[in-house]
Amino acid sequence: MSWSNDLYAQALHFAADRHAQQCFPGTDLPYAVHVVTVAAEVMRALAEERHARPDLAVACALLHDTIEDTSTTVEEITGAFGPEVAAGVLALTKDERLPRADRMLDSLRRIREQPDEIWMVKLADRISNLTAPPPYWSVEKCRAYRAEGELIAEQLRGISDWLDRRLRERIAAYAGYSD
Ligand code: NI
Repeated sequence: MSWSNDLYAQALHFAADRHAQQCFPGTDLPYAVHVVTVAAEVMRALAEERHARPDLAVACALLHDTIEDTSTTVEEITGAFGPEVAAGVLALTKDERLPRADRMLDSLRRIREQPDEIWMVKLADRISNLTAPPPYWSVEKCRAYRAEGELIAEQLRGISDWLDRRLRERIAAYAGYSD
């Protein structure tokens, strides 16, 4: 099961350009490090398991935060990468018109209406984020973040054994920050 390296490069360049002024929270690292880490989780799962649309998974992994965190529009993603990628990235984008407490469940509901490959990106995103939290996060914030990880694991279970296991391991290890 493989994906197009040309598409990988195109999506990485697009994302790195859009996130160019941003650092990954709590670090001095370019934001692109985050999207490459998410893509690596997705690509490992694609190497381990059969999934129908590896290109969709890889492109959405690299682009998943462009609408939420930059001025990129759905129309731009559609123009550069097509409607399926744009629909996937949109589902992975929290709707900021909703009350903050409702945004994750709403996004998870929209992700579940998308192909499995979009579920994979959300699992991979949380796997890559459940590492050492930014130093300014409180224990309460860490506890809530871990609980949200459990919600994601529960709502998106069953499409990738590999990513399900990776996420369970990261949630367990995160107890070190949240307990
Ligand atoms: Ni992300």
